[in-house]
Amino acid sequence: MIEARGLSKRFHDKKRGEIRAVDNVSFTCQPGKIYGLLGANGAGKTTTLRMLATILEPTDGTAIVYGHDVVEQPEKVRANVGFLSTATALYARTLVHDPPVMIFDEPTGGLDVMTTRTITGFIRECRSNGKTVIFSTHIMSEGEKLCDTIGIIQDGKLLAEGTLAQLRDKYAEHDLEEIFVKVVAPQFANSEAKAS
Ligand SMILES: Nc1ncnc2c1ncn2[C@@H]1O[C@H](COP(=O)(O)OP(=O)(O)O)[C@@H](O)[C@H]1O
Ligand SMILES: [Mg+2]
Repeated sequence: MIEARGLSKRFHDKKRGEIRAVDNVSFTCQPGKIYGLLGANGAGKTTTLRMLATILEPTDGTAIVYGHDVVEQPEKVRANVGFLSTATALYARTLVHDPPVMIFDEPTGGLDVMTTRTITGFIRECRSNGKTVIFSTHIMSEGEKLCDTIGIIQDGKLLAEGTLAQLRDKYAEHDLEEIFVKVVAPQFANSEAKAS
């Protein structure tokens, strides 16, 4: 299980000043389920996942991963986590110790159809094996097909969360893309439908 508790990360950039890459984010991922973090480029997906994998330290808040605190016991967390950010990493370290928690950062980015299917098949297999799975994507169809729970992140904030059915109900839209736009940029929601 993964439990993010007020997870936050601020960066200091000479040009941009303080960047709240991840801003007080809380969510829970259950074993045997896939949690999908959906967000545009720069939304804070990678930073969130890197904190869960103990690659980055939170500025505030923490996360409990497989019973261990990422700040207090990073080495215990690391022993139980597989982190995959590209397809190539799949064949190196992720599979070696068969960890109960799997973190995939945009695992299918830039891959062709068949390779993507191999990766999504592997993600599903992790779920069938009872692992706790979290993955990030900006591809709506992937979120629609793979996730048991979807979290929509924008500007470091978790703006919406639920099963696809719950989100459809709440935002009165069927299409995840429409739901996503309603959540992150309500002023643009349905503009395509209106224009046509
Ligand atoms: N090391 C860093 N230094 C400064 N800013 C960063 C750093 N890493 C990420 N950011 C900024 O934090 C925000 C979130 O980035 P990131 O987590 O990579 O988003 P995503 O993975 O959703 O594209 C962006 O504005 C990004 O430019
Ligand atoms: Mg990223």
